[in-house]
Amino acid sequence: MYNETVLDHFQNPRNTGEIPDADGVGSVGNPACGDVMKIFIKVVDGRLVDVKYKTFGCAAAIACSSMASELVKGKTVEEAAQLTRRDVADALHGLPDEKMACSNLAPDAIRAAIEDYRARQGE
Ligand code: FES
Repeated sequence: MYNETVLDHFQNPRNTGEIPDADGVGSVGNPACGDVMKIFIKVVDGRLVDVKYKTFGCAAAIACSSMASELVKGKTVEEAAQLTRRDVADALHGLPDEKMACSNLAPDAIRAAIEDYRARQGE
């Protein structure tokens, strides 16, 4: 059902954990299944220098969290805010159609963390 890239990111997720002094925190849930992702970002000079997350979800959600964290790390806040679920799924070399809904969690959580970051900056 899952390709090797998805399985690799599910079994060896990158960037897991928390950032205690994060500059932005975002949390989103998938109402269809109740799974949740919480993401922490550290921003220096407008760039995401660190990204960590905790995902309580299915294999696809965890693989997407891992890949999304890799995709936005080092990017500017503006670039990271534009990440789409399609970007994440493509980087994972595809997800089963019925699992595409699970790939919303990571981009949505990143945007929520960026909104939190901007709110803290008074933007
Ligand atoms: Fe809940 Fe995939 S089944 S995020």
